[in-house]
Amino acid sequence: MIDNAKYYYIITYGCQMNVHDSEKLAGMLEKMGYHPAERIEEADIILINTCIIRENAELKVFGKVGSLKQLKKKNPDLIIGVGGCMMQSEEAVQQLYEKYPQVDLIFGTHNIHHVPELINRIKEERGRVVEVWDKEEGLIPDLPSRREDKYKAWVSIIQGCNNFCAYCIVPYTRGRERSRPPEDIVTEVERLVEKGVKEITLLGQNVNSYGKDLEEKVDFADLLVRLDEIEGLARIRYMTSHPRDFSQKLINTIKDGKSICEHFHLPIQSGSNRILKKMNRGYTREGYLNLIKRIKEAIPDASITTDFIVGFPGETEEDFAETMDIVKRVRFDMAFTFIYSPRTGTPAAKMPEQIPEDRKKERLERLMELQNRISLENNQKLIGEVLEVLVDGESKNNPEMYSGRDRKNKLVIFSKKEGIKGEIVPVKINKAQSFTLFGEVIDLSVTRKTLSTIEGR
Ligand code: SAH
Ligand code: SF4
Ligand code: F3S
Repeated sequence: MIDNAKYYYIITYGCQMNVHDSEKLAGMLEKMGYHPAERIEEADIILINTCIIRENAELKVFGKVGSLKQLKKKNPDLIIGVGGCMMQSEEAVQQLYEKYPQVDLIFGTHNIHHVPELINRIKEERGRVVEVWDKEEGLIPDLPSRREDKYKAWVSIIQGCNNFCAYCIVPYTRGRERSRPPEDIVTEVERLVEKGVKEITLLGQNVNSYGKDLEEKVDFADLLVRLDEIEGLARIRYMTSHPRDFSQKLINTIKDGKSICEHFHLPIQSGSNRILKKMNRGYTREGYLNLIKRIKEAIPDASITTDFIVGFPGETEEDFAETMDIVKRVRFDMAFTFIYSPRTGTPAAKMPEQIPEDRKKERLERLMELQNRISLENNQKLIGEVLEVLVDGESKNNPEMYSGRDRKNKLVIFSKKEGIKGEIVPVKINKAQSFTLFGEVIDLSVTRKTLSTIEGR
């Protein structure tokens, strides 16, 4: 630690939007002269970026804020701020403000660019500040980001969501869809590539809606084409795409692109048409299966992953059987599986026939068991193959090993090797688990060969 220097610490819950917002918060704090603290105890300012997507996300936040009381006692000058999606709920703000006096600052998702000003106000007045905007005011301006990773970067392309899926709180916490002008996105990506970034992930709640609100006639596929032309960019990913808006033009663009990854994350939520309708998802199981068929026709080895919600109000054993059936038909590489959590303010929370917790849990277990088996079988087919892996560095669970991801976003663990961090290297797979592959980096002369085959794909 440097004498007299001021330190910040940010805790982030929720999805990649929040992770990226936290990078912007960090960027702004560093502009104010703060340094990143290695341990929370060293911080002069702590920010918590919250999520409200499911009830357990909320409980975690209250638990965390509660635990900070001790730090505040030891250091009364410590500033504690809470922001993010949960703060767009009046109820949550009220509870936090009334029951947690250790919190100095409350801000929402629409005004993160005001955080430096709010912090200065707290310092000057030594009071508590609450500033939450209930509505977005256009795009949040471009802000400096402090990115954790040197080789991979998140790039926001569209904020908000217009879909109003019946269970989901996001349209209420993030406002309506607002696309960033394509030139701004291209410029940001070019700058990142100049700095050594090899992989970008385009962020939006529904990236396929990109451009609908812009004057310029541009859609998500057009944006991908422009980004794909950037010299030196090895991989383009995006999340999340809605199965309803996934056009044939987009499939063809991905097929013809050189750096657009062959990984399709298409949240299906349920395999039952009755439930999909109640969820307001705008597609049927047949429509979804047809989309998968078209993707596989264009890119036979494409990887498909998804999200499921079990126990949506009114879900019968027959509806759930349809979900299990679709898992067997599509054979997803991976699925995030969630127990339905009623969110105040959403239509589904008021629907009759809420499913008892134990039944939801029991269905989740059956679904996970089936999906894990399929994930394992899919991964086992990769034993003996050579994958192109972008090396992240030390593996979180095995620090004595390196980890990275292939183009299809598969997590690969392998022995450390000098000088390969941030490089794309060939890894021969020799062992497979449901969520992880293991292998060894092979000779670099082979890299050139495999890379040129991939480029000529
Ligand atoms: N915009 C993305 C993801 C939004 S949230 C999309 O539309 O796919 C990520 C996932 O959380 C969703 O896909 C859904 O599976 C899950 N989710 C959202 N609201 C939920 C709720 N109330 N209960 C349980 N899971 C939920
Ligand atoms: Fe939520 Fe649906 Fe929007 Fe995704 S598309 S953020 S699930 S409302
Ligand atoms: Fe959570 Fe907000 Fe993301 S509610 S999932 S952090 S958009």
